[in-house]
Amino acid sequence: MEIKKVGVVGFGLMGCGIAEVCAKAGYDVIASSSGGESVEKGLAAIKASLYRAVERGRATAEEKEDALSRIKGTMSFDDFRGCDLVIEAVPEDLELKKKIFAQLDKVCPPDAILATNTSCLSVIDIAVATRRPERVLGLHFFNPVPLMKLVELVKTVSTSDETVSLGNTFGQSLGKTVIVVRDLPGFIVIRLIMPFVLGAIRLYESGYASKEDIDQAIVMGLNHPMGPLALCDFAGLDTILSIADSMYKELRETQLNPPILLKKMVAAGHLGRKTGRGFYDYRK
Ligand SMILES: NC(=O)c1ccc[n+]([C@@H]2O[C@H](COP(=O)([O-])OP(=O)(O)OC[C@H]3O[C@@H](n4cnc5c(N)ncnc54)[C@H](O)[C@@H]3O)[C@@H](O)[C@H]2O)c1
Repeated sequence: MEIKKVGVVGFGLMGCGIAEVCAKAGYDVIASSSGGESVEKGLAAIKASLYRAVERGRATAEEKEDALSRIKGTMSFDDFRGCDLVIEAVPEDLELKKKIFAQLDKVCPPDAILATNTSCLSVIDIAVATRRPERVLGLHFFNPVPLMKLVELVKTVSTSDETVSLGNTFGQSLGKTVIVVRDLPGFIVIRLIMPFVLGAIRLYESGYASKEDIDQAIVMGLNHPMGPLALCDFAGLDTILSIADSMYKELRETQLNPPILLKKMVAAGHLGRKTGRGFYDYRK
């Protein structure tokens, strides 16, 4: 089987990045979102990202145009009918993801591969919403997708070796390094980073240090590209809260219990860069 046409469900932060790298690698891409406005917003975000890539010498103007011409937005699941691989990137909500996989299972060809970009949910719980759990796997990309080199390929107890091999080849064709991980909460990267990030929120919440000092300490002291609070703003506080909630539910480790401040900020709609306000203010 050869992957030629890729579907992307969910056209937010991650869906846009995934659609962009797939189009740049020569795949035809069809991407859907829940609202008409979001499709337009997604296409505009990809355009802006590709313009930046040209400005910074990471792509030529021809490559930008070629990639843009390969991406189509849609409002209808029926348009996934011709896809060889569909990657889901909707919010971190198990019931929503299961519903989408059941819908995809009905419209996609029987041998099409269905992948989830979940950060921590159980991939087998999503896979059993379909009649093809052996063709379901996790493809966990990192933000920002065009720059981050890693993809965690999540193999469930049902994923076939052929699906793992196709997923591996696909990830590499995007220029990514693929590691195969087990279907356990948070896989490797999120399993390790969540206690650290939530610990930083708790330090700030307790008044132990200012947000600037916490972030600067990690940037200057550990050479991270950004501090943990800036990272929360970058990833989206709603996404961080959903991940913490679901990992705490599974693992019951105290350090994964979401801090109250995080819950309050999400309730207030201070979700980070995407809403202009999180731990820092981006409205200027
Ligand atoms: N943000 C990160 O840094 C990051 C990194 C790796 C993985 N992830 C994972 O990627 C997934 C998406 O995260 P995100 O940050 O892109 O979220 P996001 O909120 O930026 O985007 C989600 C998109 O899904 C759309 N959507 C909602 N319901 C839908 C539906 N029923 N059908 C189609 N589209 C629908 C929304 O309109 C939105 O465009 C989550 O599972 C998250 O855990 C996020």
